[in-house]
Amino acid sequence: MRGTAVTDTHARYDFDTVVDRRGTWCVQWDGVADRFGVDGLLPFTISDMDFRTAPEVLDALRARVEHGVFGYTTWQQDDFRSAIAHWYATRYGTEIDTGRLVYGPSVLSQLSQLLRMWTREGDGVVVHTPVYDGFRKAVTGLGRELRGVPVGDEEALERELARPDAKVLVLCSPHNPTGRVWTADELARTAGLARLHGVAVISDEIHADFVHEGSTHVPWTRVADDGRWALITSASKSFNFPALNGSYGILGDADDRTEYLRRMETAEGLASPAVLSLTAHIAAYREGGPWLDAVRSYTAGNLAFAAERLRAAFPELDWRPPQAGYLAWIDLRPLGVDDEALQRVLVEREKVAVMRGSVYGADGFVRMNLGCPRSKAEAGVAALVRALEAVR
Ligand SMILES: Cc1ncc(COP(=O)(O)O)c(C=O)c1O
Repeated sequence: MRGTAVTDTHARYDFDTVVDRRGTWCVQWDGVADRFGVDGLLPFTISDMDFRTAPEVLDALRARVEHGVFGYTTWQQDDFRSAIAHWYATRYGTEIDTGRLVYGPSVLSQLSQLLRMWTREGDGVVVHTPVYDGFRKAVTGLGRELRGVPVGDEEALERELARPDAKVLVLCSPHNPTGRVWTADELARTAGLARLHGVAVISDEIHADFVHEGSTHVPWTRVADDGRWALITSASKSFNFPALNGSYGILGDADDRTEYLRRMETAEGLASPAVLSLTAHIAAYREGGPWLDAVRSYTAGNLAFAAERLRAAFPELDWRPPQAGYLAWIDLRPLGVDDEALQRVLVEREKVAVMRGSVYGADGFVRMNLGCPRSKAEAGVAALVRALEAVR
């Protein structure tokens, strides 16, 4: 029965057909030379998908475009706020206090704003390693000190949080690039440590909607207390519209909300949000659930395919699909391959672009984006296997 349901779901949406993104100014395909030095590579890089967004989102956008007037707009309205509350209630069984919501132009911009509010230059900002490069750039770009603790090492976490100048923990929940989903117990312990040491928590939950079967995402609101914390997120990752530019956050403290919005509306000059992003969020959260389930299960199929091929070729890797997301984070260290040599073969011979682990501070790994049609995933995984066979 279950298999039939999944097949039916896939049949309702077409993820197999390749949408040609070339020539759309997209970073994934058109910007590949910026990172890899040459054009024309098959890209498995930054985290967006090659799929059209949900049909329900497209319909809502078309209707809004048809209206034709794109004047200044506001996020402080019930359609947006209640769509978010609906999503949290139905997907996470969590009641959101919509009075705590704030808006932002992107998750990373919200992160920077909060870091500016809650830290000073030179303060310590704790992250888990490997670390999403966007976090590293935000923290170091603001002149704050990036303090890494390995995912799962709670002793190291406590040690870093206890340092007197540690002011913020930036949690990636679920974690990019490892795809790890934090358990309720882990989050509760993290919240306890942050409280004990007076460290604010910024929980970036942009990957939360992409948790695969067998794991459960717990929003930070469930473990948060009345201390200083923020949950920042967007529907843009799950529904694949990051270039519409828009995100939102939940801030625990009333004074922090006031200060955040004051800065947005004054220093940042960002009082009016992107209307197409609001439209897309509302449609996604009200009507997009079935599409999201289908795309998640489709990409889980890509990851299962990758696992099968890697197991057949290199059993010693013992590679398993992530608990969340469509990014394959692969530890190649058991093969003893040289990162430079592997990249050379991938780019020059196989003509594929795969992120090297060093981008996230982890040599000996690669991160491969499998948010794409199965045919592309198959081509990419085959190229990776051939390249590994050539350099091992
Ligand atoms: C953990 C995480 N946060 C934030 C972002 C970027 O979000 P935005 O485009 O809204 O800044 C990404 C994109 O890959 C991400 O993986």
